[in-house]
Amino acid sequence: MRIRTQKGLTFDDVLLVPKRSPVRSRNDVDTSTQLTSRIRLHIPVLSANMDTVTEARMAIAMAQAGGIGVIHRFMTTRQQVEEVQKVKRSRGFVVEHPRAIAPDACVEEAARLMRRYDVGGLVVLDERRHLLGLITERDVLLAPDATARVDEVMTPAERLITAPPEITPAEAQTLLYRHRLEKLPLLDGEGRLAGLITGQDLIKSRQNPQASVDEKGRLRVGAAIGVGEEELARAEALLAAGTDVLVLDIAHGHADHCIDMLQELRRAFPQAQIIAGNVATFEGAKDLAAAGANAVKVGIGPGSICTTRIVTGFGVPQLTAIMDCVEGVRASGRAVPVIADGGIKTSGDMVKALAAGAAAVMIGGLFAGCEEAPGSPVIRDGQKFKVVRGMASLGAAISRRQAEREGDESAESQADWDKVVPEGVEAVVPYRGHVREVLHQLVGGLRSGMSYGGAFTIPELQENAEFIEITAAGVRESHSHDVQRV
Ligand code: XMP
Repeated sequence: MRIRTQKGLTFDDVLLVPKRSPVRSRNDVDTSTQLTSRIRLHIPVLSANMDTVTEARMAIAMAQAGGIGVIHRFMTTRQQVEEVQKVKRSRGFVVEHPRAIAPDACVEEAARLMRRYDVGGLVVLDERRHLLGLITERDVLLAPDATARVDEVMTPAERLITAPPEITPAEAQTLLYRHRLEKLPLLDGEGRLAGLITGQDLIKSRQNPQASVDEKGRLRVGAAIGVGEEELARAEALLAAGTDVLVLDIAHGHADHCIDMLQELRRAFPQAQIIAGNVATFEGAKDLAAAGANAVKVGIGPGSICTTRIVTGFGVPQLTAIMDCVEGVRASGRAVPVIADGGIKTSGDMVKALAAGAAAVMIGGLFAGCEEAPGSPVIRDGQKFKVVRGMASLGAAISRRQAEREGDESAESQADWDKVVPEGVEAVVPYRGHVREVLHQLVGGLRSGMSYGGAFTIPELQENAEFIEITAAGVRESHSHDVQRV
């Protein structure tokens, strides 16, 4: 047994000391960061892989804003793959597998498919994927008869402008503009469909250059996996669906079975980007980095809905954990970013986490109240709230087991639930509107913080950072005080 004499500190225990600054405007700073060695983000923020925080809708909004969302793993592999696909299909320079219909289907069927998939047109293909034509909403609306065959109302292939799959975004834009097209099918040398470019998608990419996109212009997305044989199959399916980064996420990441799983993933998918966690110590971070992680996730018990520290007595205050882990990955000899996960309540906390050495922060509770988080708002005393729950809470454990047993509730008994030892709680948080508005405030605070720190970039913020420990009186002084808030 030993007692560490070094004090464990967290965000509220410290402030950053202002530095002489060459930054004249907040707009001059660069908030981009390296999430892993291969993935760069415009803003250093991830939405947490929690079932009340990140599914496709949140992940799309996060990537559009320049961050990334991590789809939680408390669903079947098939469902998780579908969530990833929704993100990947939501925007891209090229739609790789456009929605298609057969020539002998009827107009009514085409209308139904367009409504179901929320698209403005379908490609008409034969059984060997040769392009026969294009049917749009306009064709459907103007068709004299809903029972007419698709090939009677479509624009036939010979009247369509097409392009080869190698076309660049600039060339596609010229063609779309010159011919006043909405859709540009891409055909390989044999006349088979190789993709589709839509005017809408090109406009979206130009309107939002900040977005986190892959080399095909599709939004980036992460997906969480756990430990175990079946999780290897989950990882394989997620990567095949286009997942940009896997997040191997277990409560105590500094465990032999987590390290073994990481090594197995590394062997099976050498090219995959893998974030592993969670850890809170020098040794934990060093071991995960040495085992092949492309980023290490840090945080044992700082989360808004976590009770791990209370239930188990274990944890490290988050600021100290970040600093120790940054040292740990450095000692591994690999340049592996650290992601600070949990405990971010304000933009100031985020600035402190980054200044302490984190490349990015993961946020749960603060995003759970957003429109894009799963679940509908509830009204209490005339105010809107949304539900958030720890992934180790009783409610999450019940939902998980019910999903595993596919609704066979007869198999459950009260005694089963009595055996669960939760390490998280269920709660409500105020409804906060769209996540882009919350991100705007967070990133605005970061930009301002960087100017106080005399830093144009996040690495400069880290280099210049000097923390000062404060007292309870200092904490009180930091908040608005001696006034009545309106
Ligand atoms: P915030 O503070 O952003 O933290 O809400 C989100 C992070 O909390 C972790 N998490 C848990 N930790 N018990 C825990 O001890 C839980 O039930 C639990 N659920 C989530 C997780 O790391 C998340 O990203």
